[in-house]
Amino acid sequence: MGLLLDACVSSQNLLKPTLENNRFQIALDKFQSSAHYIVRHKSLPFDILVVKNKEQYTALQMRCTHNDVALNFAGKKLVCTAHGSEFDLQGKVLKEPASASLTTYKTSVQDQFLTIYLS
Ligand code: FES
Repeated sequence: MGLLLDACVSSQNLLKPTLENNRFQIALDKFQSSAHYIVRHKSLPFDILVVKNKEQYTALQMRCTHNDVALNFAGKKLVCTAHGSEFDLQGKVLKEPASASLTTYKTSVQDQFLTIYLS
């Protein structure tokens, strides 16, 4: 059941925006229907999870800091199937063996768009 739900969330909330000047832009009105999206691009080694919490946006690299394995989004947390680490939606470690927080990307909001800066 959990796997089915995760797959459903991922397919509905997967975005493949254009990368321009090392930035992604997402229309803010997207966040009226969901508070989270997964950004995927062929140039990225790992997806990015974008989370809206009140009026704050967080962009997290979905890479486990324990051993560089892709994380799964599980609704209220990110889970690593390799050795069981878990992270909250701010990127903080909830469960070891990972000890370091997830990599975050700078974001800004302007003109009804959220911008995610890769560098
Ligand atoms: S690689 Fe994620 S817990 Fe080990």
